Formats: sequence, structure tokens, C-alpha cells
Amino acid sequence: KQYTALLPAAGIGSRMQASVPKQYLCLGELTILETTAKVFLSHPAIMQVLIVLHPEDKWFSQLSLAKDSRIQTVTGGDERADSVLAGLQASNPNEWVLVHDAARPCITQSDISKLISSVEKQQCGGILATQVRDTMKRGAKDKVAETVSREQLWHALTPQMFKAGELKENIQNALLSGAAITDEASAMEWASSPVSLVTGRSDNIKVTCPEDLALAKWFISQQKS
Ligand code: C5P
Repeated sequence: KQYTALLPAAGIGSRMQASVPKQYLCLGELTILETTAKVFLSHPAIMQVLIVLHPEDKWFSQLSLAKDSRIQTVTGGDERADSVLAGLQASNPNEWVLVHDAARPCITQSDISKLISSVEKQQCGGILATQVRDTMKRGAKDKVAETVSREQLWHALTPQMFKAGELKENIQNALLSGAAITDEASAMEWASSPVSLVTGRSDNIKVTCPEDLALAKWFISQQKS
């Protein structure tokens, strides 16, 4: 066991229109956050799971997960990048860290292994991603401006795996420069560091809207069968 998983779970999930933040909605017996954390906790390469919580979080301490000795929590910030930074401050800068959205509960052990082996083999950070399948359009207001070739387009998923110290520095500097940092790879790109694309499963969705809950439940039930 050698890697840390960092799960940003400090969002308020406003697009879910629920009374609790989306990571605390139930997918069957467990909440989304518990479902996600358990996949990492049971992976043989993961030694620690660092969970980033909202400053006013009042739900985490009620989960049985809170008693697991391999879990550590820190307080997050206004944007996802601020929350990831808070997690990185608590990480060993020389170690590889897998940053994974708490809101992606359908992540599988095999996809985590695939990312880790790519990073170990190439000694270069990487992300899970899927190739775009639809025809892509650039829009101008409500009209099509042009068709964009999808050949080189990927959906960026998580986990995204980088050296903690390098990632922290790049996010800090990119934010200072005003760059939009919507995932870890965007900070590495900003610093011209190479990022490998590792093909992941397309069922690794981010639960965002109410209808995604049923979809995530179904994907998980299919994975088990
Ligand atoms: O809002 P979005 O779906 O992009 O959030 C992705 C992940 O980042 C979620 O797990 C959410 O809890 C987390 N997040 C965070 N801190 C924020 C905003 C989002 O940890 N300020």
C-alpha cells in the first residue's frame, strides 16, 4: 500500500436541488460519499483516504466511515481547486496522490489499477478519460458556429494522479495567474507538465442532477452482477 486518495467532498451540490449536499444522498444503503470512499479503502494500493469537507459540514461525523482509522478529513474552500489545495497541504509532497470527485461513486477497482499502472510505468501523471463519441459543435448563441473534430477530444474523468507537491505548486500558481482550473490536469497543463490520457469506463459519471442518481445506482448494480 503506497498511495493516498484525495476526495474533494466540500461542494454544496446546488444543481441537485436536494436538502443535503449531493455526496450525502443515498445510493441504496450507503451515501454517495461512502460508496466512493469504500472503493478506494478496499483497493490494495491505497493506504490513506483524505476527505475534504465543507467548513459547515454536519453530516460526515454521523457516518460509520468517520471511525475508519485510514480516513483523515480537512476543511475545503469556495471552489473545487481550493478544496483540492487544502487536501494537498495535508499530503506528503513527494508522494503520488489520486484526486477523485466524491460525486463519482461508480469508480471501479480496475480503473483505479489501470491509472496507477500507467503512472508507475511511465513515471508521468495521468488521468482517466473517455473519448468523445458524439459529433461536437461550437455554438454561437443558439446557432451552430461550426463542427469541431472529435478525433482529439476526450472527457476528463477522475481519479487524476500526480505528485502532490508538484500539483499543489501548479494549482497555486495557475490560480494566481487567473487561469480556470476545473480539474488537476488543467493546472499541470498550465505548467506544461505532461499528462497521460488513460482510457477509463464511461459509467464513471459525476452525479450532478437528480436523474443521475438512478443512473449511478443502475451502473453499480450492473458492476456487481
Ligand atoms: O460541483 P462539482 O460536481 O463539479 O464538484 C465535484 C466534486 O468537487 C464534488 O465531489 C464536490 O463535493 C467537490 N467540491 C469541493 N469543494 C468545492 C466544490 C466542489 O470539494 N468548493
